[in-house]
Amino acid sequence: MKIVSLCATEKKGVTYRLQEAFLEEFGDSAEITEFYFPKDCPAFCRGCTVCIRKDPNLCREAEYIQKIDKAMREADLLVFSSPAYVYHTTGAMKALLDHFAYRWMPHKPAAEMFGKRAVILTQCLGGGAKSTVKDIKDSLSWWGVSYIKTRSFKLMSEIEWDKLPDKKKTEMTKSVNALARKLLHIDYSKPAHAGLIAKGKFYAVRMLQTALGKENPEYTDFKYWKANGWLDTVRPWK
Ligand SMILES: Cc1cc2nc3c(=O)[nH]c(=O)nc-3n(C[C@H](O)[C@H](O)[C@H](O)COP(=O)(O)O)c2cc1C
Repeated sequence: MKIVSLCATEKKGVTYRLQEAFLEEFGDSAEITEFYFPKDCPAFCRGCTVCIRKDPNLCREAEYIQKIDKAMREADLLVFSSPAYVYHTTGAMKALLDHFAYRWMPHKPAAEMFGKRAVILTQCLGGGAKSTVKDIKDSLSWWGVSYIKTRSFKLMSEIEWDKLPDKKKTEMTKSVNALARKLLHIDYSKPAHAGLIAKGKFYAVRMLQTALGKENPEYTDFKYWKANGWLDTVRPWK
C-alpha cells in the first residue's frame, strides 16, 4: 500500500513524533512519501485563479502542487498532521490547502478522492486541536473524501516532547499506534464507501454545473464535469 503524509510543520517536535509513531506501525507493508511544509510548498496562493479558470499546470507553483496532487491521488491513505497555531492549522498547511482550492467539488475534484481514506492527527497545548482538525477536514470533505479518522491531543503541561511526562507520551503514542493498526488491516484494493455528505455535495454541484454549462458551454469546470461523464450517468465513486 501507498501512504502520503503531509506534516504542517518542519519541526521535529511533538507533531512529528506523533506522525512517526503512526507511520511506524505500517513497517515494510507501506511505501511512504512524506511532505513537510513550508519546505514542500513554499509559496502562498496568489489568488490568480488560473488553476480554476484555465489549467492547474499554469500555476506558478505547479511544480510543487502537481507533485503532491499526483502523490495524493495514487495513495491508499493520506495522513495529515498539524499542531494548533492560534487555534488553527499552521499557515504553512493553510497555504497548501489554498493551493488545492481547484480540487474542491465545485471545480475539478479528483475521482480518486471519493474512495480515499484519510487520517488527521493534531495536538495543542490547551485549546485549538479540534478546530485544527476542522481546517483540514473541510478541504478533505470538499475534495470528496468520506473516510476520515481523527485523533487530537492536549499536551497541557509542556510543548517540548522531551519534557513531556512519560505518561502523556505513552498515552498519545498508544492512541496513534492503535489507530494505525486499525488502518493497517483494511483491504485497500476496495475503495472506501462514499458517504451521503460527499454524494449530497456531488449532486448539488452537478445541478450547478448543468446550469452554468447552459449559460456558457466553454466554462472550464463545466467542461471538466462533462468530460468525466458526471453530468450523465458516470459517478466518481464505485
Ligand atoms: C505560533 C504558535 C501558536 C500556537 N498556538 C496554540 C494555540 O492556539 N493553542 C494551543 O493550545 N497551543 C498552541 N501552540 C502550541 C502548539 O499547538 C504545539 O503544542 C507545540 O508547538 C508543540 O508542537 P510541535 O513540537 O509539533 O511544534 C502554539 C505554538 C506556536 C509555535
